[in-house]
Order: sequence, then C-alpha cells, then structure tokens
Amino acid sequence: MSRDVLSTRLVHHRVAPLRRVPDLAEDARMGLMERPRWLPPKYFYDARGSQLFEAICDTPEYYPTRAEAAVLAAESRRVIERVRPAHIIELGSGSARKTRCLLAACDALGVHPRYWPFEVSTQIMIDSAEQLIADYDWLHVEAMSGDYTAGLAHLPLPAEAARRLFVFLGGTLGNFDPAQADAFMAEIVALMGPGDALLIGLDRVKDVAVLEAAYDDAAGYTAAFNKNVLNVLNRTLDGDISPDLYRHQAVFNRPLSRIEMRLIAEQPHRVHLEALGRGFDMAAGESILTEISRKFSRDDIASLLARAGLREAEHFEYGTGDYSLVLAVPDV
Ligand code: SAH
Ligand code: TRP
Repeated sequence: MSRDVLSTRLVHHRVAPLRRVPDLAEDARMGLMERPRWLPPKYFYDARGSQLFEAICDTPEYYPTRAEAAVLAAESRRVIERVRPAHIIELGSGSARKTRCLLAACDALGVHPRYWPFEVSTQIMIDSAEQLIADYDWLHVEAMSGDYTAGLAHLPLPAEAARRLFVFLGGTLGNFDPAQADAFMAEIVALMGPGDALLIGLDRVKDVAVLEAAYDDAAGYTAAFNKNVLNVLNRTLDGDISPDLYRHQAVFNRPLSRIEMRLIAEQPHRVHLEALGRGFDMAAGESILTEISRKFSRDDIASLLARAGLREAEHFEYGTGDYSLVLAVPDV
C-alpha cells in the first residue's frame, strides 16, 4: 500500500492485493492454453481501452449507460436524502461521469461526503478526480487504484461504519459468473454497517437484437475495444498477435442469460508470447472468450440481493424494465 498526496483534496492510494491474483502471464498461461480459450476482462482497461469504453458508452446501441444516467438524474436526490452519506465508495468508477449525478445531488442538498473511487485503470480515475475537485470545492477524493478481484477487506476506508454509500454501476457485476458474483457481493456486504447502503446498477433481459447490438456497435468501438486486449497481451508478454486476424463477436446465450464476447480467428495462425516462452496454434474459427455480461430478471436481482443478506430499499427501473438501479441495505 502506498499513499500520494496529489493536492490538498486529492489523495492517491495504491492498494496492494489482499490475496494473490494471477497476473497476465499466469492468466494467459491458464486461459489461452485451455479449450475453449478465455481471458479475464480486467485487461481490457489499459489507457486506450478505457478511452474506447467511454466511446462505447456514447454509441447509440449501448443503451445501459443512458438508461442508468437517466435513472440517476431522476433519483439521485432521493438516494442522497435517504442515505445522507458521509462517504461514497465506488467500485470500478471509470470516468465517474454518472457518479456526477450523485455528487450534484449532494451539492444541492448540502451533504458533503468524501469520494472513494476504486479502479484498475489509474489514469482515468485520477483525471476524473481532478475534474471533480475542481467542480466541487467541498469535495475530497481518496482515489484507490488496484484490482477489486484481489479483495476489498483492506481498502483504506474510514473506520466508522455509519452512513457510507457503496456504488457499483454499469452492470459491472454482470461481468462475473454467478459464483464469482455471489462471492463479490459477500465481500461488499462484509464491509457494510447497519447505516450503509449499496447502489447497484444491473442490466435486464430484453430483446436479443437490442442486447447483441449493444455489444457490437456499427461504428466498431466495441470491436476495437475487444481487439485491444490483444495489444495488451503483445505489449505485456512480448507477443506477436495480429489483431487484424481476428473478428469481434457478441452473442446472447439465452440459457445462461448472458452476452458472450469473443475474438474469433479468421485464418489459422501461430501465436507466440515471448514472456511465456511459448506459443500456440489458433485454428480458423477458433475463439477466445473475452467477456461475459449477464442480464437479469427482476426476480434474479431480488434473489441475488437476498443471498447477499441485503434487501431492496428502492428499486428504480428504466423504461419497461430495461435497466435496474437498486438501493439495497443490510437486511437486519
Ligand atoms: N462505472 C463505469 C465504468 C464501468 S466499466 C460506468 O458505469 O460507466 C467497468 C469499470 O471497472 C472500468 O472502469 C474498469 O477499468 C473497472 N474494472 C474492471 N475490472 C476491474 C478490477 N478487477 N478492479 C478494479 N476495477 C476494475
Ligand atoms: N460492464 C459493461 C457491460 O457489461 C462492460 C462492457 C460494456 C463491455 N461493453 C463492453 C465489456 C464491451 C467488454 C466489451 O455492459
């Protein structure tokens, strides 16, 4: 753990992993050598990946960001009035564009929490934190960089338990498989005291064409984002993968209720990763699973929260159940 004071109102904490998680070399050795091949999603978010993700959020096809932003614009005041947080802790905050709705509501209500974003993509977090403290003169940001899959229990959070609002937006919980999602929810709940609340955004099951288009925009930002993980592999592991040999694919797996994103080799070729001291052959049509994004029913959400020991204090829906933003509290 290290701590850098970047300005009077911005501190940067580098959070050491609580438990060991595989690095890219180990994940590549495990995931890429296995059939079907896979990679964990956190490697998408290098500087370029984070920029591409912002561009995805602005595409006409990617509705979750607009849906969540609309609900936050309408309901942030209600959330802040109810929780009156002394601290807002956000997991996977990214550019924190939507979090601004919550901070604007705080500003209007004279509620002045400290903001604690936790991100694997450090630069985008620091950039957004600098903008936020410029915009709100009362705001202090404790930016935490690290990997949330490596644990939450050791985050440098304030000791007092009361009135903290945990925030997990963007449907990002859906990027975990069911067992990982339950385990992650349990880790969040373990941090929560009786006065705390969790604001979580989850995407809902809907028309397949709408779902698939959201993960395959016509302008090609999602395809570029997906292929960018190959650049991360090349750079980090001294590899020679040519992204042009791959095609982006997003399909909805209905039985598992999830979008599956893959990179599909269009012709047979050999890949070499120097840092692993080995390579492997990709056959034509062979794929790498790079991301899942689960889509929930309202009942799925209720049982997910119940299993975690939470109850819904408010369940805000966008449109006709196209997106859910839930304020959940410990069920004591
Ligand atoms: N909350 C934002 C961003 C969602 S995308 C929104 O709703 O638009 C997921 C975010 O989680 C990205 O900013 C990514 O960098 C971050 N992230 C992904 N895996 C992570 C990990 N293992 N640890 C910490 N942050 C992670
Ligand atoms: N949490 C986002 C989601 O599941 C992440 C995301 C959106 C994403 N579009 C993507 C991840 C495209 C990989 C590729 O909706």
